[in-house]
Amino acid sequence: MKDRPIGIFDSGVGGLTVYRALHDRLPNERFVYLGDTARVPYGTKSLETVERYAIENSLFLASLGIKALVVACNTASALALPQIRQRIGLDVVGVIGPGARKAVEVTKGNSERKVGVIATEAAVASNAYFEAIRRASGSASVLQAACPLFVPLAEENWISEPETFTIARKHLAPIIEFEPDALVLGCTHYPILRDVIGQIVGESVKLIDSGEAAADEVASMLADRGLASDETIEGP
Ligand code: DGL
Repeated sequence: MKDRPIGIFDSGVGGLTVYRALHDRLPNERFVYLGDTARVPYGTKSLETVERYAIENSLFLASLGIKALVVACNTASALALPQIRQRIGLDVVGVIGPGARKAVEVTKGNSERKVGVIATEAAVASNAYFEAIRRASGSASVLQAACPLFVPLAEENWISEPETFTIARKHLAPIIEFEPDALVLGCTHYPILRDVIGQIVGESVKLIDSGEAAADEVASMLADRGLASDETIEGP
């Protein structure tokens, strides 16, 4: 079991940011990545559709003999995690809980604990981040904003074009007004635009990459369950 790969899926290429974080954190693990580029985006689709896609992706990866599953897609994590857990009978880590806990952790010591969340329309509407942050800190104040145009910009790799700055200023206006201590990049594509987002919200706002937070959680899950690989994989 220990030598099996870890499955990861996302609605498209954005989840490769989560894969990179996992690979850096767990260099001796093997991974199988499924990017559902035929059906991206998930963030504008209904609950039923996202749930169906997420279960299909999970069952496909389970059929390849994985030892655990990482749901890299924030939208699928927000809408379908319990259903996936019920169907595949493996350890499953999503990105919402780890991202929310990390955001609360970095606001420790701030009197108000203000956390901003940017995510897809479906993830925002589900309130999954809001609830996870409030579970981690009952006193945190949370503002969520959907940034739907960030996904195509990241897919096109428009990471420094003037148009990207114009759109980002517009999407991030409510967040800037809220003046958060931390901002969760609650969509796999958003870390690709991290520099633009960071410049617009300002250096004082701590950017939380849910993928990096999830990588820490996967590492402790593997250790707790005795599933960490004994192999040493050479090379990058
Ligand atoms: N992967 C999705 C997420 O993290 C973003 C792209 C989409 O809308 O499918 O929420």
